[in-house]
Amino acid sequence: SIPVDNVQALAASVADSGAVPPRYIRPEANAYPVAQDGDGELPVIDFARLLDLRFSQEESAKLHYACAEWGFFQLLNHQVPEEVIEQMKADIMEFFKLPLEEKKAFAQGPGGLQGYGQAFVMSEEQKLDWADVFFVITRPVHLREMRFWPTRPPTFRNTLSCYSAELKRVASTLMEVIAEALGIAPDRLLDIFDDMPQGVRINYYPPCPEADQVLGLSPHTDGGGGLTLLLQINDVQGLQIKNNGKWFPVRPLPGALVVNIGDILEILSNGKLNSIEHRAVINTEKERLSVATFLFPSEDAVIGPLPELVTKGCEEKYKTMSYRDFLKTFYARKLDGRSLLESLR
Ligand code: SIN
Ligand code: FE2
Repeated sequence: SIPVDNVQALAASVADSGAVPPRYIRPEANAYPVAQDGDGELPVIDFARLLDLRFSQEESAKLHYACAEWGFFQLLNHQVPEEVIEQMKADIMEFFKLPLEEKKAFAQGPGGLQGYGQAFVMSEEQKLDWADVFFVITRPVHLREMRFWPTRPPTFRNTLSCYSAELKRVASTLMEVIAEALGIAPDRLLDIFDDMPQGVRINYYPPCPEADQVLGLSPHTDGGGGLTLLLQINDVQGLQIKNNGKWFPVRPLPGALVVNIGDILEILSNGKLNSIEHRAVINTEKERLSVATFLFPSEDAVIGPLPELVTKGCEEKYKTMSYRDFLKTFYARKLDGRSLLESLR
């Protein structure tokens, strides 16, 4: 991977000069229209109803529809304590406010994925995203590389630990409900995502005077994981998902997590669930922060269409391979729409 500029620092200098470097200018950003009010509504799922026998059947049907048709939904009443969410927001805001030198104490190593830095870049020509990122593996706990975990603010490590445990709980329940709604054994997915390996990625999108010419995050599907749970840290809109040939802006409801299906669940479900392309756009005046929590299969999992979902008349839509080989394919390609999924067909 090739090192690139810190975007938070670049944005500060662009705010003075007004000139955005050409590598960040993305003519394709406006290739598809943005959906307007009335172009449908992102499904909202009530976690408490999923757990309540009186409503669970109805709610899990809704969940299945959301995962199959939209690949995305908002999750309310997820029961992550308000204090944990608020502390996450506060600690993350504080970390990104630190001077660059202090943040760099937790920088990615060359070619490394964990730590503070930028999305990986494979060539000198590749266009760049208007964002800095911070990524760490949070589970299994014994694989945590603590040198990447910020010590400022002093509460950060503990906050992230609590958040990670809460999201494991939410994700495990979702995996069970998704399996049941697919008509397979409730623990079928939990076995593949054994003990819920997890990574947390914090996205920092500075404002940009040419906001409609740049992209915070290029269109992609969530390649290495099964489910992603997104927490918006502040109130700035930015996530857009592909729906009916348009970019559909997601405005998180207060207290909601935005959940989406990743490539692995699309493959396991033999295409019954959909891993949808999404991107992040930039605001002219305001910074935006978000936290994506990814659920990964266990290291020795085998990834391919589950035999019980390959029914008569519908053949296997994807190859089967070990998760290790899957990751090799994943890292050899740059994030680019649905290109990884298509290559596995
Ligand atoms: C992501 O795709 O992980 C980030 C989306 C966002 O920042 O809303
Ligand atoms: Fe994503």
